[in-house]
Amino acid sequence: MQTRDTDFLVIGSGVAGLTAALRLSAHGKVLVASKREASECNTRYAQGGIACVVDPADSMAEHITDTLQTGGGLSEESAVRAIVEGGPERIAELETLGVHFERSTEHPNDYDLGQEGGHSRRRVLHAGDITGQALSEGLLARAKADPNITVAENLLAIDVIPTGWIGLGGENRCVGCYFLDKNSGEILAVRSPVTILATGGLGKVYLYTSNPDVATGDGVAMAWRAGLPIRDMEMIQFHPTCLYHPDAKTFLISEAVRGEGAKLIDRRGHEFVYDFDDRGPLAPRDITARAIDSVMKKYGDPFVYLDISHRDAEFLQQRFPTLYKACLKYGFDMARAPVPVVPAAHYSCGGVVADVNGCTAMPGLYAVGEVASTGLHGANRLASNSLLEALVCGHRCADEAVKRRKENPVADITIPRWECGDAVSSNEEIVVEHDWNEVRSVMWDYVGIVRSDRRLTRARRRIRTIREEIRSYYKEYLVTADLIELRNLAAVAELIVRSAQRRKESRGLHYNEDWPETAAHARHTVIQDRPGGPLDAE
Ligand code: FAD
Ligand code: SIN
Repeated sequence: MQTRDTDFLVIGSGVAGLTAALRLSAHGKVLVASKREASECNTRYAQGGIACVVDPADSMAEHITDTLQTGGGLSEESAVRAIVEGGPERIAELETLGVHFERSTEHPNDYDLGQEGGHSRRRVLHAGDITGQALSEGLLARAKADPNITVAENLLAIDVIPTGWIGLGGENRCVGCYFLDKNSGEILAVRSPVTILATGGLGKVYLYTSNPDVATGDGVAMAWRAGLPIRDMEMIQFHPTCLYHPDAKTFLISEAVRGEGAKLIDRRGHEFVYDFDDRGPLAPRDITARAIDSVMKKYGDPFVYLDISHRDAEFLQQRFPTLYKACLKYGFDMARAPVPVVPAAHYSCGGVVADVNGCTAMPGLYAVGEVASTGLHGANRLASNSLLEALVCGHRCADEAVKRRKENPVADITIPRWECGDAVSSNEEIVVEHDWNEVRSVMWDYVGIVRSDRRLTRARRRIRTIREEIRSYYKEYLVTADLIELRNLAAVAELIVRSAQRRKESRGLHYNEDWPETAAHARHTVIQDRPGGPLDAE
């Protein structure tokens, strides 16, 4: 097994990881590991934009209030304040890197701001309807051109390396990470005083999701196995409007479309969302997704409609060029008729407990972006706040890591060889595929928008059996990328179910029909299991 050294190790090439990497590169060598092509990440698919106070008529106080109200009592005000207030500087920096945000046609000095659910005013900066792509391409180009940054693709992190696992006494600290090099099939250890988890989300744990295939919750699973506290995993955000079409693979239709006047209607043309909230289609996502779920169940309909046919094609083509074209490809002209939509798993509000500087409970290990639970989102994320969080925390984390890296010396540490089984299974692929599908179906059927004690118990039982099966595979056979991802997917499934079972109330994104009331005091759900080794920590 080869061991490689770097001053800073960043796992993940989305907005959070690249923001941190670009800031770190002035202080040493940075290795950015990405398990597929570096451009493949949730960031790339972001549509609506970045929530940020840039309009003189807006205020930090209003953005903070909207975030806290949407967060259902679980957001932490100090984290919300730090992230909201850190936004304008990050936006200005992105512009110097060449990321262009749309300007108003009437007042070219002003930004063209979008409106999304839960925001009391227009506040969302956007690059057409492909904000994520603009961000990802801009940051990646810079990172690739930076002589101090190496972007390593097809390098899949398996487990971080706490000193406790490798037989060293004293405080348990992180000294790097084991990887599977997917190009060579070899295991590689990277030794570093700074390991930053920027591994993004976990949408693939559900059968229907807006997330790309890389979103398998690896960072949360690795941190959990390393013994770190994992928080509020039951708070899974379902995006209300994904295109309903057998070939669309849950293509997202941005909330910004509702910001421009789109209505949500049922089969009879009734604008049902007002029956649930006075804000109608611009209520926060927990309310809107639940309203859609309830209407679909009431009438046995497989979808509802998003209707913006009162706006003309010229406007839609100019404001939502990519979306408009994509819908046309599937046979829907948004300017002429309503489009069928369904909710799908979109965002993980919980994750690895970290402060706004990315610091976790383990020295040497940091978490930023969607993988982290900083206290910003609480029980429900305000639309377009996640890119903001990733930018602000990625930047702050770099500064903190530079300050602290000397506290975590690694030069004298010998990383032991990776131990794993040595048999190659002939039928492994089919078993992995079967378990993968089963985890995702169980989560969709039993741990979706509306939960119950009975369904959660059932899910827990099924997930436990699947995890046992995966454990035995993992011990006996050579690790493969699919097996590593499946193991992580099943681990986060268990964390979500256990967290949901612990919450004896309904709050924000977690609705349990056996516990429909909201408790007077908001409490986090924290799961922290006994630290062990890479195989027995679970
Ligand atoms: P990501 O961008 O997902 O990056 C994670 C990276 O980690 C990837 O490169 C991945 O390959 C890598 N990785 C994961 N596991 C491993 C491993 N084991 N080893 C090596 N590498 C690994 N938010 C907004 O604020 N505004 C929006 O308009 C918006 N629209 C969205 C639209 C869609 C369709 C989706 C899916 C999300 C949207 N979001 C939006 C959410 C937002 O895009 C994400 O929360 C954010 O981009 C997460 O950034 P990140 O850097 O934390 O993770
Ligand atoms: C969207 O464009 O609707 C997604 C915005 C988000 O997830 O914040």
